[in-house]
Amino acid sequence: MRSALVLVRAVAGLEWMVAEEVTAAGHRVVEVSKRQVVAEGLGRPPRVADDVFVVYGTAPDPGRSRASVMAGVRAALPSAPDVPCAPGSGGAFAVSASVVGVRNFNRYDVEDVVGERIARLIGGTYHSRRHGVVPPEDRAEWRVVLDGKTLWIALRPYAEPLHRRPYRQHTVPGSLHPPVAAAMARLADLAPNHHVLDPFCGAGTLLLEAHHLQPGAYYLGIDRDPAATAAAHSNWTAASGGVERWAAGTQRRGGGVGAGGARGAGVVWGTEDARGVEGVFERVVSNPPWGVRVGAGGVPSAVRRWRRVLQPGGLVVVIVMPEQVRLLGRGWRVLGRYGVAVRGRHPVILVAEPSRS
Ligand SMILES: C[S@@+](CC[C@H](N)C(=O)[O-])C[C@H]1O[C@@H](n2cnc3c(N)ncnc32)[C@H](O)[C@@H]1O
Repeated sequence: MRSALVLVRAVAGLEWMVAEEVTAAGHRVVEVSKRQVVAEGLGRPPRVADDVFVVYGTAPDPGRSRASVMAGVRAALPSAPDVPCAPGSGGAFAVSASVVGVRNFNRYDVEDVVGERIARLIGGTYHSRRHGVVPPEDRAEWRVVLDGKTLWIALRPYAEPLHRRPYRQHTVPGSLHPPVAAAMARLADLAPNHHVLDPFCGAGTLLLEAHHLQPGAYYLGIDRDPAATAAAHSNWTAASGGVERWAAGTQRRGGGVGAGGARGAGVVWGTEDARGVEGVFERVVSNPPWGVRVGAGGVPSAVRRWRRVLQPGGLVVVIVMPEQVRLLGRGWRVLGRYGVAVRGRHPVILVAEPSRS
């Protein structure tokens, strides 16, 4: 029997990695397009994915005209879809649309057509987002995608979007989108017993995603702002169920305060300035300030420090704004460069190693 089709939504630029994760989980990738991977079946949700929706109806993309949208939606949902259960209290549901290309209608027009069709076929109360109205928290979320080829109608099988991590109870200005952090962790090629440094850890997203991917490594996150390290610590406590697995206050490899490998792998946080960091690490993963919401003044000297703390054969995975790419200029060999689009910005993930000269 063919498995259900699933729309896996992705951060622009990371579709290829989502497709890799889906394939590695044993599911067939049917097609990859901008911000979307269509797969057969849904296993362990891909960590790099933004969100996941199970498909209940498809039809050819209806094109530009508003009238054809109604016909397209009726063709995609000719009768009540067999939804296992309607999540959300009181049958409350909302619809969000993603529309590619120029159309003679807007996303709210499509959302309302789909919302009204679903309400008619399976009941429940449709909450339109038109005029900026925020639908109730406890609702089912439908997705309609017009990608130029196909009209997809799909339902999120979870109560929350996939990118909303339960551990992330605190953020700081400039906190990283968790799927992007998960992508960086994958690019870091982490191995058990690696010592991994995030010198601008903020609320800890990057190391928490890295720890999820490779729980056998040792992680140290530092930030000069005590409020950031407190946020990171509290997120880590939520992620690890309150289990502290690394003794704070022991020596970290190479000296300095922080943590050492004494009690098994884990994550530890320290309030320090990245420009003076000590230690020996196989990996540096980092989201330094971009100079947008947090000043980026100290970043060049912190980056110079990375050559000193990296083991031979070590790697850096860093996300920077395009104008900061030259921070890894002389003295670094860039092995990979991946552009992404997050919240209207276009940063670049760089994978680099110290050059020999
Ligand atoms: C973009 S935020 C990092 C966000 C983090 N990845 C997260 O998801 O929450 C940059 C962080 O760098 C810290 N920072 C700025 N200059 C620093 C320095 N010289 N040393 C250490 N931390 C610094 C800021 O306090 C801020 O928390």
